[in-house]
Amino acid sequence: MSGAAAARTICLNVNGEERSATAEPRVTLVDFLRHGLRLTGTHVGCEQGVCGACTVLIDGFAVRGCLMLAVQAEGRQVQTIESLGTVEAPHALQRAFLKHHALQCGYCTPGMLLSLAQFLHDVPDPTEQEVREAISGNLCRCTGYHNIVKAALDAAAELRGAREEN
Ligand code: FES
Ligand code: FES
Repeated sequence: MSGAAAARTICLNVNGEERSATAEPRVTLVDFLRHGLRLTGTHVGCEQGVCGACTVLIDGFAVRGCLMLAVQAEGRQVQTIESLGTVEAPHALQRAFLKHHALQCGYCTPGMLLSLAQFLHDVPDPTEQEVREAISGNLCRCTGYHNIVKAALDAAAELRGAREEN
């Protein structure tokens, strides 16, 4: 008897669009996004829920894409880094990361940005300590976190200003 379940069509709402591809039910969400849908902005690191490189938002909450199966995301709203901003119109966090040199190799950056996007939505005026706690599940081997925290606080101030104008 074969251990592999038959591949099936998996349909997900990703970044506001209905997307589908064929994959076995055992395929993780991050592998499905990268290989099935060719959304390669989401990275894969430890594959065991430790590093946070695979972070995506599901219904607005940051989750580890390596710990969830693609089939478990059916019917949910998935948001990947591809939706956060564009080169022409970057998100406030992306602008702040550039301004404060908050990335080096960039491997952790997509997951870090999505974790921070959810956090600043929930906590618009955080302390430095709160930012550090918010990104404690996103490991960065390069930066020492200092500039990431500065960038997050800067983006928070910009986002608060934009909310007050609206
Ligand atoms: S690849 Fe998912 S937490 Fe590291
Ligand atoms: S910038 Fe290299 S792991 Fe964070």
